[in-house]
Amino acid sequence: MKILNFGSLNYDYVYSVDHILIPGETGAASGMQTFCGGKGLNQSVALARAGAKVWHAGMVGEDGGALLDLLRQSGADTSCVGTLPGKSGHTVIQVDKKGQNCILLFGGSNRSLTREFAEEVFRGFGRGDMLLLQNEVNDIDVLIEMGHRKGMRVVLNPSPFDGAVEKCDLSKVSILLVNEIEGGQISGRKKPGEILDVLAARYPDTGVVLTLGGDGAVWQGRGRRIGHGIYHVPVVDTTAAGDTFTGFFLASVVSGKTMEQALETASKASSIAVTRKGAAPSIPTMEEVLSYPFGPPESAGPSV
Ligand code: RIB
Repeated sequence: MKILNFGSLNYDYVYSVDHILIPGETGAASGMQTFCGGKGLNQSVALARAGAKVWHAGMVGEDGGALLDLLRQSGADTSCVGTLPGKSGHTVIQVDKKGQNCILLFGGSNRSLTREFAEEVFRGFGRGDMLLLQNEVNDIDVLIEMGHRKGMRVVLNPSPFDGAVEKCDLSKVSILLVNEIEGGQISGRKKPGEILDVLAARYPDTGVVLTLGGDGAVWQGRGRRIGHGIYHVPVVDTTAAGDTFTGFFLASVVSGKTMEQALETASKASSIAVTRKGAAPSIPTMEEVLSYPFGPPESAGPSV
């Protein structure tokens, strides 16, 4: 089974700040670094570093060389990434002293996908392959339809959530990975248990991963819910923690691991990611996840 990840590739301009600025405020940054990122690229890197075979599809600008190099060095296939005149996507990210972030996104070439380009990419994939999507490229509703029509297993991480997600037919999604805010926006509920109840009623054939920050994560599928707690680590930068979780979770699932094992591996990998600066550079390899001296999780996980 092949994994096709149709997603964004960004340069992240990361500013270290004392606190995240409020409207009207001007503040000095104590440091600035540039990293490769983008939810799409990060998830392809995480999949590849977890040992999965992944094809990244998307669009970079003429300045996109370092993004492609990073994907290749991590083990992802870049033959489905096109190049356009103009700028790649980029972000401006503030990271505060507690490692929390705030991200301003400029889509750039990520927003220039055409139906012709997508049809050409999909030609190399078929029934039983997996299609992974986030919401940083244009027309994800169309990509869901195209993947579903091909008989692919569609996986959606609808992040960042906006009106484009509301146009998607989520009944065509096999696995939906959401955090509490995205899950709340889709379901209209706030409490984790209620979010899961609504999603199960509306999309009975869709497996759901609900991540709950410090409270861990829950898998819901085939009438079962399985929770997993988080690991105690020093937090430096939370950027790409969710992407790391997604990549390691899916790599575990496609390699035949149980949902319990997939949640454990994904939680450990994202815990390592928050101990390091930047997006893609913070994502560990599977070897690092297996050898990191974790204690037991802080709790059994959310009780929903
Ligand atoms: O999820 C983290 C990513 O979100 C960053 O790398 C940034 O590019 C934004 O897309």
